[in-house]
Amino acid sequence: MSDSDDDVPQLSTEALAALQEFYIEQQQKEDVKTGGKYFGSIEENWQLSQFWYDTETALRLANEAVRAAGRNGKIACVSAPSIYQKLKELNYKDFSACVLEYDQRFSVHGTDYVFYDYKNPLNLPANLAAHSFDIVLADPPYLSEECLRKTAETIKYLTKGKILLCTGSVMEEYAAKFLGVKMCKFIPKHTRNLANEFRCYTNYDSGLDFDCVS
Ligand SMILES: C[S@@+](CC[C@H](N)C(=O)[O-])C[C@H]1O[C@@H](n2cnc3c(N)ncnc32)[C@H](O)[C@@H]1O
Repeated sequence: MSDSDDDVPQLSTEALAALQEFYIEQQQKEDVKTGGKYFGSIEENWQLSQFWYDTETALRLANEAVRAAGRNGKIACVSAPSIYQKLKELNYKDFSACVLEYDQRFSVHGTDYVFYDYKNPLNLPANLAAHSFDIVLADPPYLSEECLRKTAETIKYLTKGKILLCTGSVMEEYAAKFLGVKMCKFIPKHTRNLANEFRCYTNYDSGLDFDCVS
C-alpha cells in the first residue's frame, strides 16, 4: 500500500467527458421513460409554449398518422415535433414525414425540418407543394382564435384532405369553424399536467375514437 495519489488510476479528460455524456444520455432516456421534460435530447422551452406529449400519447398519435396516411403516405407535423420524432423512432419504411417548427433546435432533423412561424402561415418553401400531404397533424402553440385561424391556413394549404388537430377543449368551436374537425374520445397526455384540458380533433373517422387502438 502507498499513500501516494500517483498510484490511484486516473481517467483522462476525454474519458471523463465521454463518461459524463453517457450519464447525461442515460438521465435523458430515463426522463423520457418516466415522463420527464425532455423529448429525445430537446428540453421544453416554456417561452415557446412547448409541452411535450408523454410517450404513450406520442406513440398513439404517430400510429394514427401512419394509419391515416396509408401506404407510402406523406405526413406533415406542424408545431408537433414529438410526433415527428416518434414517427422516426418507429422506423417504418413506407411513409415520409416532415416537421414544421419555429424552434430551430429541430433543424437537427436535416431536410425533414422546415422553419415555420404561424404568423406567416403561407410563407413556406417551394418544395412544400399545395395539397401534397396525406395527413397534416398540428398542435398550435397558443389557445387563441388568431393562432388557430392562421395555423388552419397552413393546414388547409398542405393537406390533401385529412387533418388531425390537437389543442385545448376550449378551442372546439373555432376548430370546427376553421377546419371542420370534430373532437375525438382519446385524451392526449403531456409529460406535465397542464391547466387546460387538451383534446384531439379530426375531420375523418379515426382510431382515436376507440379505446385501445395504438
Ligand atoms: C403546444 S406545443 C406542441 C408540442 C406537442 N405537444 C409535441 O409534443 O410535439 C406548441 C409548439 O409550437 C411551437 N411554436 C412556438 N412558437 C411558434 C410559432 N411562432 N409558430 C409556429 N410554431 C411555434 C413550439 O416550439 C411547440 O413545439
